[in-house]
Formats: sequence, structure tokens, C-alpha cells
Amino acid sequence: MADARKLGFVPFGTPFKGVLIIFCEEGLKLGPATRKALAPAGDLVERVASAERFTGKSGSALDIVAPAGLSATRLVVLGVGQGRRLKAQDFVKLGGTAMGKVPSAATQAVIFAELSGGALKPDQAAEVALGVQLRAYVFDRYKTKRKEGEEPPAKPQVNIAVGNPAAARKAWQGREAVADGVVMARDLVNEPANVLFPAEFARRATVLRKLGVAVEVLDVPAMKKLGMNALLGVGQGSEHDSRMVIMRWNGGKKSEAPVAFIGKGVCFDTGGISIKPAANMEDMKGDMAGAACVTGLMHALAARKAKVNAVGAIGVVENMPDGRAQRPGDIVKTMNGQTIEIINTDAEGRLVLADVLHYVNTRHKPRFMIDLATLTGAIIVALGQEYAGMFGNDDRLCDRLTKAGLASGERVWRMPLGPEYDKMIDSKFADMKNTGGRYGGSITAAQLLARFVDKTPWVHLDIAGTGFSSGQSEINRSWGPGWGVRLLNELVAEHYER
Ligand code: BES
Ligand code: MN
Ligand code: ZN
Repeated sequence: MADARKLGFVPFGTPFKGVLIIFCEEGLKLGPATRKALAPAGDLVERVASAERFTGKSGSALDIVAPAGLSATRLVVLGVGQGRRLKAQDFVKLGGTAMGKVPSAATQAVIFAELSGGALKPDQAAEVALGVQLRAYVFDRYKTKRKEGEEPPAKPQVNIAVGNPAAARKAWQGREAVADGVVMARDLVNEPANVLFPAEFARRATVLRKLGVAVEVLDVPAMKKLGMNALLGVGQGSEHDSRMVIMRWNGGKKSEAPVAFIGKGVCFDTGGISIKPAANMEDMKGDMAGAACVTGLMHALAARKAKVNAVGAIGVVENMPDGRAQRPGDIVKTMNGQTIEIINTDAEGRLVLADVLHYVNTRHKPRFMIDLATLTGAIIVALGQEYAGMFGNDDRLCDRLTKAGLASGERVWRMPLGPEYDKMIDSKFADMKNTGGRYGGSITAAQLLARFVDKTPWVHLDIAGTGFSSGQSEINRSWGPGWGVRLLNELVAEHYER
């Protein structure tokens, strides 16, 4: 996988060089193996800590260059607060923080996975490793020149010192699959639209076949035959033909209905004839973040051989203005026979999802459907970049997602649906129109989707705010966070694996 650091687990006693990173609890409390490793340095940490008034508070750190008496070139002490309060997600963040302290010129680093009470559990050490791997990701494949002081990172060997390396390695296996899925999603989001057009996206999805995923790609004639005119209308102004990709991972019982994930894959959204203003339009190369998440999730599930049957379906198009482009006022007929009046060609994501949702619902009869889409600017106004908007027809599924969000750190906030909102998309000329006006813009978008899901438990996640980021979190410094892969992996692992 691109940019993956060399990561290993070693026993505490292993001699170390390079950067040494240790965890310290409030009250300057260190673990026994850590104290042993620091013994040759005497009371160095105590002296530096008192000079810097460092006590081990969460988020604080000491960075000691060329620590006297140690073979390390640098000693980093990370404050973690009260160790017993740390949850899985905190260990992931710690791994990210630790990796962030490794200078880009370093070739080696070792992280002591220990708190004052002793070695971290294998699962906890593996969470640290996940954070390391996610923080290490960079998307720099288009940089051909570097300024001085901006040399390419050395990609260091990072070792995690643990009590039981074999057990930590075992715990890491599943998380490594998830990390690879996140990296895949990030690469797809970061990739520019002149490289990642629908056919290329579909080709990249077919690579999942190597992991045992069945991948089916439908081209324009195939979708025409099915009557997917809402999806096709969005792509008709582009030189790049649309695709739908269906990925299936069968790791569960033969008889069991699959869980289904559906992604909006608008490789570039100009707005179409209702063209967007120029400012920040380049961000619209990421309007396929929902589809990227679904693809990365299918990678994760297959790579860790999840005991579940899962379908991932993505509608992949490019929304361009052109002589053949769809116009405001046009009326399209969807795969399930409903008609939609196009008011604004920039409200294209819901048109793509309408057909894909109906396709998945009728073909695969799933236990539930969860769609992800960078659907509305309005959800960014409502929730910022911290929570994705969640809409759904099933309280239990929503509750499970809320919990999975808190556990994974990819959080969701439930928003309302209802007949009053549904009325707002009734049309004078057709069954519905594709926008509901300025008020409640994220809700009326979700109401349109709801008209294509029937009774199946369904959740729509509007990830316009979370799908691309400033890249300032502990575990991500790139523009595309790969948001949702860890959330949905957590949901599946907690509730849907046999
Ligand atoms: N892809 C955009 C939504 C978006 C905006 C995502 C900003 C990420 C950042 C979507 O296709 C769109 O253009 N939505 C319109 C809908 C409107 C025309 C009803 C919007 O939100 O303005
Ligand atoms: Mn749009
Ligand atoms: Zn869009």
C-alpha cells in the first residue's frame, strides 16, 4: 500500500537506536520497562520535566534531543493523563501523536507501548500501531521537486515495543486491513479528477478481486437497459462515461442476506449547467468521498476476512456542463419508474443515489442499506466538520451507528425526516423535484433518497463536512481523511459478524 511505513512489534528489551517514544501518566508515572530503558540516563526525564513543568498531562510532551546516556538520538515523552481512562480510540490517537513526533529525516523509531501499570494489552498496542500507520500517510505522488528543508520523508522503520509481540502482531492483522482500507479511500479522494474519472475509479475497484471480492462493472448501455436514467442524466454532459460498480464480499453464511453500503461517486462536480462559482471548486474532485469510503471498506472487510456478507455499490459519474448536459426543467425517469424534475443540476448526488439505492434494494434484498454522500453544503453549515449528518428510518440502526461513531471517533449526529419535509420536494410537473429550496437543504435531499428505499432499514450519511478535511487531526495530515471506513468497519464487527 502506498506510503505504508515499515511497522514491527518487538519485546521491550530490544536494543534501540533512533527516536525513542515513551508514554507518561499524570504525576510523571512511567512503566517498569520504560524506567529500565531510561536507567542509563539517570534522572534526565525528571530534570527536564521539572524544568519544563511537565507532569504527564494529556496532550503535553517533552522532546529531548541527544539524550545523554541513551543510544537514542531523541527521546520523546508523551503525556497521556490518567492511563486507566484511555479508550481504544485514545490509543489510536496516541499512535498518531507519536508518529507525528518522528522527524521526517529519522530512519528508526521505537514506541514503548506501556503505561505505569505495565505493558499495553495486545489490542491496545495494535490500536497504537493503527494510529502510527494512519498518521504516516502522505499523498505526494505528484511532487517532483522539493525545496530545501522539504526533502521527502525517510519512511522510518517504526517498532512498537510490547510485552507479547506475537499477540500484538495477531491483534494488528485485522487493524492493518482497516488501515489499508482507509489508505485506499484517502488515495481515491486525494486523486485529481483528470486521473480519477469514472472508468478509472471502476478499474481501481476491480483490484479488490485479488482479495476475493466479486466486482461487477456496469457501463452506460447496461445502465440504460436497467432504466437508470437519473444516474445517467448526471453524467450525460461529460466526455467520461458513467459507471456503476457492485462489489460483493461473501464471508458470512450462504443463506444470510447481505449488509449493503452505497456511495456517491461524483468524480468531479462542476454543478453542471447550474454551474458552481469558481472559489474552491477544486475541492469538488473529492465529491466521490462516499464511493471512496465504500470501496475502502470493502477492501478492509475482505482483507480481514470479515465473517459477513457485504455488498458495496457505487454510482460513478462526472457532472459537467456541455451541449449534451442535462438542463434545469428536464424530467428524468428513475429505475423504479418515478419521475424527477431537475430544478438545479448541482443537486446531482441524490439523482445518482436514487437509482443505485433502488438497484441494491431490489437485486440484493439487503438487511440494511447505508449510503454515504458528500451531498449538501447545508450539512457543513449545520454540523461543521466534526459530525456527519445521519438520516434514517430505523432507530436501532441509527443507535448502533451513533455508538460506533463514538467508539471509532468518526461521529454522526442524527437529523430529522418527516412528511412535512417530504412535501417540500413535490413538483408541479413530475413526482418530485430535485431540490426543496433553501430551508432544510440536507433534510430535503435525504427525503428524496427516502423515496427510493421502501421498507428496508436505511441510513443516509451526509459527509460533505467530514469527507474532506484540513488534515489537522492526530491521525490524518492529508486532505482526504478516508472518513467512514473505520466507522462502518466498527459497526459490522460489533453487530453483523457471525
Ligand atoms: N457536492 C455538492 C455538496 C458539497 C458542497 C459537498 C461543498 C462538499 C462541499 C452537492 O452536489 C451540491 O452541489 N449540493 C448543492 C445542492 C443545492 C443545489 C440544492 C448545495 O449543497 O449547494
Ligand atoms: Mn452538486
Ligand atoms: Zn455533488
